Amino acid sequence: MPVSRRHFVSALGLGGAGLLAPPALGGRGLEARLESWIAATPSPLQKTGLIRLDSNENPNGPGAKAFEAIRAMFGEANRYPDAPEGPLIAAIAKEHGVAEENVVLGCGSGEILRLCVEAFVSTAQHLVTASPTFELPGNFARTMGRPVVSVPVDDKLRLDLGAMASKAGGAGLLFFCNPNNPTATVHGDAAVREFIARVRRDSPATFILVDEAYHEYVDDASYKSAVPLALADPNVIVSRTFSKVFGMAGLRVGYAIAHRDTANRMQRWRLGSGVNVLALGAATAMVSDREHVALEQRRNRETKAFTRAFFEKAGYEVGPSETNFLMINLRRDMRPVREACGKEGIAVGRPFPPLTNWLRVSIGTMDEMQRATEVFRKVLG
Ligand SMILES: Cc1ncc(COP(=O)(O)O)c(C=O)c1O
Repeated sequence: MPVSRRHFVSALGLGGAGLLAPPALGGRGLEARLESWIAATPSPLQKTGLIRLDSNENPNGPGAKAFEAIRAMFGEANRYPDAPEGPLIAAIAKEHGVAEENVVLGCGSGEILRLCVEAFVSTAQHLVTASPTFELPGNFARTMGRPVVSVPVDDKLRLDLGAMASKAGGAGLLFFCNPNNPTATVHGDAAVREFIARVRRDSPATFILVDEAYHEYVDDASYKSAVPLALADPNVIVSRTFSKVFGMAGLRVGYAIAHRDTANRMQRWRLGSGVNVLALGAATAMVSDREHVALEQRRNRETKAFTRAFFEKAGYEVGPSETNFLMINLRRDMRPVREACGKEGIAVGRPFPPLTNWLRVSIGTMDEMQRATEVFRKVLG
Protein backbone atom coordinates (compact mmCIF):
# COMPACT_ATOMS: atom_id res chain seq x y z
CA MET A 1 0.00 0.00 0.00
CA PRO A 2 1.69 3.24 -1.07
CA VAL A 3 1.48 5.63 1.88
CA SER A 4 2.85 9.11 1.48
CA ARG A 5 2.32 11.33 4.50
CA ARG A 6 0.24 13.83 2.51
CA HIS A 7 -1.82 11.07 0.95
CA PHE A 8 -2.33 9.37 4.31
CA VAL A 9 -3.46 12.55 6.03
CA SER A 10 -5.73 13.78 3.27
CA ALA A 11 -7.21 10.35 2.62
CA LEU A 12 -8.27 10.14 6.22
CA GLY A 13 -9.87 13.53 5.94
CA LEU A 14 -7.83 14.94 8.79
CA GLY A 15 -5.55 17.94 8.94
CA GLY A 16 -1.97 17.24 10.01
CA ALA A 17 -2.61 18.89 13.36
CA GLY A 18 -5.73 16.82 13.92
CA LEU A 19 -3.87 13.64 13.12
CA LEU A 20 -1.20 14.46 15.62
CA ALA A 21 -3.64 15.22 18.43
CA PRO A 22 -4.09 12.03 20.47
CA PRO A 23 -7.86 12.42 21.18
CA ALA A 24 -8.59 12.35 17.46
CA LEU A 25 -6.71 9.08 17.01
CA GLY A 26 -8.38 6.60 19.31
CA GLY A 27 -11.58 4.68 18.85
CA ARG A 28 -13.12 2.64 16.12
CA GLY A 29 -14.21 5.67 14.08
CA LEU A 30 -10.71 6.18 12.76
CA GLU A 31 -10.35 2.43 12.35
CA ALA A 32 -13.44 2.30 10.16
CA ARG A 33 -12.27 5.26 8.06
CA LEU A 34 -8.85 3.67 7.73
CA GLU A 35 -10.38 0.38 6.60
CA SER A 36 -12.47 2.10 3.95
CA TRP A 37 -9.44 4.09 2.85
CA ILE A 38 -7.42 0.87 2.49
CA ALA A 39 -10.28 -0.67 0.52
CA ALA A 40 -10.29 2.37 -1.77
CA THR A 41 -6.49 2.32 -2.15
CA PRO A 42 -5.69 -1.22 -3.29
CA SER A 43 -2.11 -2.39 -3.57
CA PRO A 44 -1.01 -3.78 -6.97
CA LEU A 45 -1.56 -7.30 -5.61
CA GLN A 46 -5.02 -6.46 -4.30
CA LYS A 47 -5.88 -5.06 -7.72
CA THR A 48 -5.46 -8.54 -9.24
CA GLY A 49 -8.51 -9.57 -7.20
CA LEU A 50 -6.72 -12.70 -5.94
CA ILE A 51 -8.22 -13.97 -2.67
CA ARG A 52 -5.31 -15.10 -0.55
CA LEU A 53 -6.23 -18.02 1.68
CA ASP A 54 -2.80 -19.61 1.50
CA SER A 55 -0.56 -18.16 4.25
CA ASN A 56 -2.69 -17.85 7.41
CA GLU A 57 -2.43 -14.07 7.45
CA ASN A 58 -4.97 -11.78 9.09
CA PRO A 59 -7.01 -10.40 6.17
CA ASN A 60 -8.05 -7.31 8.14
CA GLY A 61 -4.60 -5.87 8.74
CA PRO A 62 -3.18 -4.30 11.86
CA GLY A 63 -5.59 -1.57 12.85
CA ALA A 64 -5.37 2.18 13.19
CA LYS A 65 -2.83 2.33 16.01
CA ALA A 66 -0.26 0.55 13.87
CA PHE A 67 -0.75 2.84 10.91
CA GLU A 68 -0.47 5.91 13.12
CA ALA A 69 2.75 4.53 14.65
CA ILE A 70 4.16 3.83 11.18
CA ARG A 71 3.43 7.40 10.14
CA ALA A 72 5.13 8.68 13.27
CA MET A 73 8.24 6.61 12.42
CA PHE A 74 8.68 7.96 8.88
CA GLY A 75 11.21 10.44 10.25
CA GLU A 76 13.38 7.58 11.52
CA ALA A 77 13.67 5.91 8.11
CA ASN A 78 17.21 7.23 7.64
CA ARG A 79 18.40 5.82 11.00
CA TYR A 80 19.39 2.31 12.01
CA PRO A 81 16.71 0.81 14.21
CA ASP A 82 18.71 0.23 17.41
CA ALA A 83 17.03 3.00 19.43
CA PRO A 84 13.40 2.05 18.67
CA GLU A 85 14.13 -1.59 19.53
CA GLY A 86 14.19 -0.56 23.21
CA PRO A 87 10.53 0.55 23.45
CA LEU A 88 9.32 -2.63 21.72
CA ILE A 89 11.38 -4.89 23.98
CA ALA A 90 10.06 -2.99 27.01
CA ALA A 91 6.46 -3.25 25.77
CA ILE A 92 6.76 -7.00 25.13
CA ALA A 93 8.39 -7.54 28.53
CA LYS A 94 5.58 -5.60 30.21
CA GLU A 95 2.90 -7.51 28.32
CA HIS A 96 4.31 -10.85 29.49
CA GLY A 97 5.45 -9.72 32.93
CA VAL A 98 9.07 -10.68 32.17
CA ALA A 99 12.39 -8.86 32.24
CA GLU A 100 13.71 -7.21 29.08
CA GLU A 101 16.64 -9.63 29.11
CA ASN A 102 14.13 -12.45 28.47
CA VAL A 103 13.08 -10.99 25.10
CA VAL A 104 14.80 -11.69 21.75
CA LEU A 105 13.45 -9.81 18.72
CA GLY A 106 13.33 -11.36 15.28
CA CYS A 107 12.62 -10.33 11.70
CA GLY A 108 9.38 -12.29 12.01
CA SER A 109 9.31 -15.31 14.27
CA GLY A 110 10.89 -17.06 11.29
CA GLU A 111 14.19 -15.48 12.34
CA ILE A 112 13.73 -16.90 15.84
CA LEU A 113 13.15 -20.37 14.40
CA ARG A 114 16.21 -20.06 12.16
CA LEU A 115 18.52 -18.81 14.86
CA CYS A 116 17.43 -21.62 17.20
CA VAL A 117 18.47 -24.13 14.55
CA GLU A 118 21.80 -22.30 14.13
CA ALA A 119 22.41 -22.05 17.85
CA PHE A 120 21.30 -25.49 19.02
CA VAL A 121 21.40 -28.02 16.14
CA SER A 122 24.73 -29.47 15.00
CA THR A 123 25.93 -32.44 13.01
CA ALA A 124 26.10 -34.36 16.30
CA GLN A 125 22.84 -33.03 17.81
CA HIS A 126 19.84 -33.49 15.56
CA LEU A 127 16.57 -31.59 15.17
CA VAL A 128 13.31 -33.32 16.09
CA THR A 129 10.32 -31.96 14.21
CA ALA A 130 7.01 -33.30 12.93
CA SER A 131 5.39 -34.08 9.60
CA PRO A 132 3.56 -32.09 8.81
CA THR A 133 4.44 -29.02 10.84
CA PHE A 134 5.76 -25.55 9.98
CA GLU A 135 8.61 -26.46 7.66
CA LEU A 136 11.14 -23.70 8.33
CA PRO A 137 13.24 -25.33 11.09
CA GLY A 138 13.42 -28.68 9.24
CA ASN A 139 14.20 -27.07 5.90
CA PHE A 140 16.83 -24.85 7.38
CA ALA A 141 18.54 -27.68 9.28
CA ARG A 142 18.62 -29.80 6.11
CA THR A 143 20.11 -26.90 4.14
CA MET A 144 22.83 -26.66 6.76
CA GLY A 145 23.49 -30.39 6.47
CA ARG A 146 22.22 -31.07 9.99
CA PRO A 147 20.33 -34.29 10.81
CA VAL A 148 16.54 -34.03 11.06
CA VAL A 149 14.10 -36.56 12.53
CA SER A 150 10.48 -35.97 11.50
CA VAL A 151 7.71 -37.61 13.50
CA PRO A 152 4.33 -38.10 11.74
CA VAL A 153 1.21 -36.59 13.32
CA ASP A 154 -1.31 -39.10 14.70
CA ASP A 155 -4.61 -40.11 13.08
CA LYS A 156 -6.35 -37.16 14.79
CA LEU A 157 -3.89 -34.74 13.15
CA ARG A 158 -2.26 -34.07 16.53
CA LEU A 159 1.47 -33.91 17.11
CA ASP A 160 2.46 -37.30 18.50
CA LEU A 161 4.14 -36.06 21.67
CA GLY A 162 5.05 -39.55 22.92
CA ALA A 163 6.80 -40.41 19.66
CA MET A 164 8.51 -37.01 19.48
CA ALA A 165 9.81 -37.38 23.05
CA SER A 166 11.12 -40.84 22.23
CA LYS A 167 13.22 -39.35 19.39
CA ALA A 168 14.65 -36.55 21.52
CA GLY A 169 17.59 -38.48 23.01
CA GLY A 170 20.75 -36.57 22.06
CA ALA A 171 18.82 -33.97 20.04
CA GLY A 172 19.98 -30.36 20.00
CA LEU A 173 16.49 -28.95 19.41
CA LEU A 174 12.92 -30.15 19.44
CA PHE A 175 10.46 -28.03 17.45
CA PHE A 176 7.00 -28.12 19.04
CA CYS A 177 4.41 -26.06 17.18
CA ASN A 178 1.43 -25.48 19.48
CA PRO A 179 -1.09 -25.01 17.90
CA ASN A 180 0.40 -26.89 14.98
CA ASN A 181 0.53 -25.45 11.48
CA PRO A 182 -0.86 -26.95 9.21
CA THR A 183 -3.03 -29.34 11.25
CA ALA A 184 -4.56 -26.62 13.52
CA THR A 185 -4.57 -28.96 16.56
CA VAL A 186 -3.46 -27.91 20.03
CA HIS A 187 -2.19 -29.60 23.18
CA GLY A 188 -3.42 -28.53 26.60
CA ASP A 189 -1.27 -27.29 29.43
CA ALA A 190 -1.04 -30.62 31.29
CA ALA A 191 0.08 -32.49 28.15
CA VAL A 192 2.66 -29.80 27.34
CA ARG A 193 4.12 -29.87 30.85
CA GLU A 194 4.28 -33.66 30.88
CA PHE A 195 5.92 -33.72 27.45
CA ILE A 196 8.52 -31.11 28.35
CA ALA A 197 9.26 -32.83 31.66
CA ARG A 198 9.82 -36.13 29.84
CA VAL A 199 12.16 -34.62 27.24
CA ARG A 200 14.07 -32.76 29.96
CA ARG A 201 14.46 -35.95 32.01
CA ASP A 202 15.45 -38.22 29.10
CA SER A 203 17.61 -35.73 27.21
CA PRO A 204 18.75 -32.90 29.51
CA ALA A 205 20.80 -31.05 26.87
CA THR A 206 17.93 -30.76 24.34
CA PHE A 207 16.33 -27.34 23.81
CA ILE A 208 12.56 -27.26 23.24
CA LEU A 209 11.21 -24.49 21.01
CA VAL A 210 7.48 -23.99 21.52
CA ASP A 211 6.11 -22.06 18.54
CA GLU A 212 3.00 -20.14 19.62
CA ALA A 213 2.38 -18.21 16.38
CA TYR A 214 -1.39 -18.90 16.63
CA HIS A 215 -1.67 -18.46 20.42
CA GLU A 216 -4.36 -15.76 20.28
CA TYR A 217 -6.70 -17.86 18.14
CA VAL A 218 -6.92 -20.79 20.59
CA ASP A 219 -10.34 -21.36 22.17
CA ASP A 220 -9.56 -24.69 23.89
CA ALA A 221 -9.78 -23.96 27.62
CA SER A 222 -7.14 -26.57 28.49
CA TYR A 223 -4.48 -24.65 26.53
CA LYS A 224 -2.00 -22.31 28.20
CA SER A 225 1.05 -20.52 26.90
CA ALA A 226 4.41 -22.12 27.70
CA VAL A 227 5.93 -18.72 28.58
CA PRO A 228 6.04 -19.55 32.34
CA LEU A 229 7.91 -22.77 31.48
CA ALA A 230 10.43 -20.81 29.41
CA LEU A 231 11.12 -18.46 32.31
CA ALA A 232 11.65 -21.34 34.71
CA ASP A 233 13.75 -23.54 32.46
CA PRO A 234 16.72 -22.39 30.32
CA ASN A 235 16.05 -25.20 27.83
CA VAL A 236 12.53 -24.02 26.91
CA ILE A 237 11.99 -21.19 24.40
CA VAL A 238 8.67 -19.72 23.25
CA SER A 239 8.30 -17.91 19.92
CA ARG A 240 5.53 -15.45 19.08
CA THR A 241 4.74 -13.32 16.05
CA PHE A 242 3.02 -10.10 15.00
CA SER A 243 2.16 -11.77 11.65
CA LYS A 244 -1.07 -13.47 12.64
CA VAL A 245 -3.71 -11.92 14.93
CA PHE A 246 -1.88 -8.56 14.86
CA GLY A 247 -2.11 -8.49 11.05
CA MET A 248 1.49 -7.44 10.34
CA ALA A 249 2.91 -10.32 8.28
CA GLY A 250 4.35 -7.92 5.71
CA LEU A 251 6.11 -5.82 8.33
CA ARG A 252 8.15 -8.74 9.77
CA VAL A 253 8.35 -8.77 13.56
CA GLY A 254 8.45 -11.71 15.92
CA TYR A 255 10.14 -12.51 19.19
CA ALA A 256 11.17 -15.17 21.64
CA ILE A 257 10.74 -15.36 25.39
CA ALA A 258 13.56 -17.30 27.00
CA HIS A 259 15.67 -17.58 30.12
CA ARG A 260 18.37 -14.87 30.26
CA ASP A 261 21.24 -17.27 29.51
CA THR A 262 19.41 -18.82 26.58
CA ALA A 263 18.35 -15.41 25.27
CA ASN A 264 21.99 -14.29 25.38
CA ARG A 265 23.03 -17.35 23.40
CA MET A 266 20.32 -16.67 20.83
CA GLN A 267 21.15 -12.95 20.48
CA ARG A 268 24.53 -13.85 18.96
CA TRP A 269 22.79 -15.38 15.93
CA ARG A 270 20.49 -12.46 15.23
CA LEU A 271 20.83 -10.36 12.13
CA GLY A 272 21.79 -6.99 13.60
CA SER A 273 19.22 -4.27 12.78
CA GLY A 274 16.95 -7.00 11.44
CA VAL A 275 13.64 -5.37 12.37
CA ASN A 276 12.91 -2.14 10.51
CA VAL A 277 11.83 1.09 12.20
CA LEU A 278 8.29 1.10 10.79
CA ALA A 279 7.67 -2.44 12.03
CA LEU A 280 9.15 -1.59 15.44
CA GLY A 281 6.81 1.38 15.79
CA ALA A 282 3.74 -0.57 14.68
CA ALA A 283 4.49 -3.56 16.94
CA THR A 284 5.11 -1.30 19.94
CA ALA A 285 1.71 0.31 19.38
CA MET A 286 -0.09 -3.01 18.85
CA VAL A 287 1.37 -5.37 21.46
CA SER A 288 -0.98 -4.32 24.25
CA ASP A 289 -4.01 -3.57 22.05
CA ARG A 290 -6.41 -6.09 23.61
CA GLU A 291 -9.39 -4.50 21.88
CA HIS A 292 -7.87 -5.20 18.47
CA VAL A 293 -7.02 -8.79 19.42
CA ALA A 294 -10.57 -9.39 20.71
CA LEU A 295 -12.04 -7.98 17.50
CA GLU A 296 -9.85 -10.20 15.32
CA GLN A 297 -10.59 -13.28 17.43
CA ARG A 298 -14.32 -12.68 17.02
CA ARG A 299 -14.06 -12.10 13.28
CA ASN A 300 -11.99 -15.25 12.86
CA ARG A 301 -14.38 -17.35 14.96
CA GLU A 302 -17.43 -16.24 12.95
CA THR A 303 -15.87 -16.61 9.54
CA LYS A 304 -14.26 -19.93 10.44
CA ALA A 305 -17.66 -21.29 11.56
CA PHE A 306 -19.18 -20.17 8.24
CA THR A 307 -16.40 -21.89 6.28
CA ARG A 308 -16.53 -25.07 8.34
CA ALA A 309 -20.31 -25.28 7.89
CA PHE A 310 -19.90 -24.96 4.12
CA PHE A 311 -17.48 -27.89 3.86
CA GLU A 312 -19.34 -30.08 6.35
CA LYS A 313 -22.63 -29.50 4.55
CA ALA A 314 -20.89 -30.49 1.33
CA GLY A 315 -19.98 -33.82 2.99
CA TYR A 316 -16.31 -33.21 3.83
CA GLU A 317 -14.52 -34.00 7.07
CA VAL A 318 -13.04 -30.84 8.58
CA GLY A 319 -10.32 -31.22 11.21
CA PRO A 320 -10.49 -29.48 14.60
CA SER A 321 -9.10 -25.95 14.43
CA GLU A 322 -7.62 -23.75 17.15
CA THR A 323 -6.15 -21.34 14.59
CA ASN A 324 -7.11 -19.07 11.69
CA PHE A 325 -7.18 -21.89 9.14
CA LEU A 326 -8.98 -25.16 8.50
CA MET A 327 -7.82 -28.54 7.20
CA ILE A 328 -10.35 -30.25 4.94
CA ASN A 329 -10.14 -33.91 3.97
CA LEU A 330 -10.86 -33.94 0.22
CA ARG A 331 -10.39 -37.73 0.05
CA ARG A 332 -8.37 -37.15 -3.11
CA ASP A 333 -5.15 -35.42 -4.09
CA MET A 334 -5.46 -31.72 -3.16
CA ARG A 335 -2.96 -30.57 -5.80
CA PRO A 336 -5.32 -30.46 -8.84
CA VAL A 337 -7.95 -28.81 -6.62
CA ARG A 338 -5.44 -26.20 -5.53
CA GLU A 339 -4.51 -25.53 -9.14
CA ALA A 340 -8.17 -25.21 -10.18
CA CYS A 341 -8.85 -22.81 -7.29
CA GLY A 342 -5.82 -20.76 -8.35
CA LYS A 343 -7.22 -20.42 -11.88
CA GLU A 344 -10.44 -19.09 -10.33
CA GLY A 345 -8.55 -16.48 -8.30
CA ILE A 346 -8.44 -18.29 -4.95
CA ALA A 347 -5.00 -19.11 -3.49
CA VAL A 348 -5.15 -21.99 -0.99
CA GLY A 349 -2.50 -23.76 1.08
CA ARG A 350 0.44 -25.66 -0.38
CA PRO A 351 0.67 -29.47 -0.15
CA PHE A 352 1.68 -30.77 3.27
CA PRO A 353 3.01 -34.28 2.77
CA PRO A 354 2.12 -36.88 3.91
CA LEU A 355 -1.37 -35.29 4.21
CA THR A 356 -1.77 -34.66 0.48
CA ASN A 357 -5.51 -35.40 0.57
CA TRP A 358 -6.04 -32.53 2.99
CA LEU A 359 -6.50 -28.94 1.85
CA ARG A 360 -5.47 -26.08 4.14
CA VAL A 361 -7.70 -23.04 3.80
CA SER A 362 -6.82 -19.85 5.68
CA ILE A 363 -9.72 -17.77 6.96
CA GLY A 364 -10.20 -14.55 5.00
CA THR A 365 -12.84 -11.87 5.51
CA MET A 366 -16.50 -12.97 5.47
CA ASP A 367 -16.88 -11.43 2.03
CA GLU A 368 -13.82 -13.32 0.76
CA MET A 369 -15.04 -16.62 2.20
CA GLN A 370 -18.47 -16.15 0.66
CA ARG A 371 -16.85 -15.68 -2.72
CA ALA A 372 -14.32 -18.48 -2.13
CA THR A 373 -16.98 -21.02 -1.14
CA GLU A 374 -18.72 -20.39 -4.48
CA VAL A 375 -15.45 -21.32 -6.19
CA PHE A 376 -14.93 -24.37 -3.94
CA ARG A 377 -18.48 -25.51 -4.79
CA LYS A 378 -17.69 -25.25 -8.51
CA VAL A 379 -14.22 -26.85 -8.31
CA LEU A 380 -15.20 -29.71 -5.99
CA GLY A 381 -18.31 -30.48 -8.04
C1 LIG B 1 3.76 -21.93 13.06
C2 LIG B 1 4.45 -20.80 12.40
N1 LIG B 1 5.57 -20.34 12.94
C3 LIG B 1 6.24 -19.33 12.40
C4 LIG B 1 5.79 -18.71 11.26
C5 LIG B 1 6.61 -17.61 10.67
O1 LIG B 1 5.92 -16.44 10.79
P1 LIG B 1 6.63 -15.01 10.82
O2 LIG B 1 8.04 -15.18 10.40
O3 LIG B 1 5.84 -14.21 9.89
O4 LIG B 1 6.53 -14.58 12.24
C6 LIG B 1 4.63 -19.17 10.64
C7 LIG B 1 4.13 -18.55 9.41
O5 LIG B 1 3.16 -18.90 8.82
C8 LIG B 1 3.93 -20.24 11.24
O6 LIG B 1 2.81 -20.73 10.71
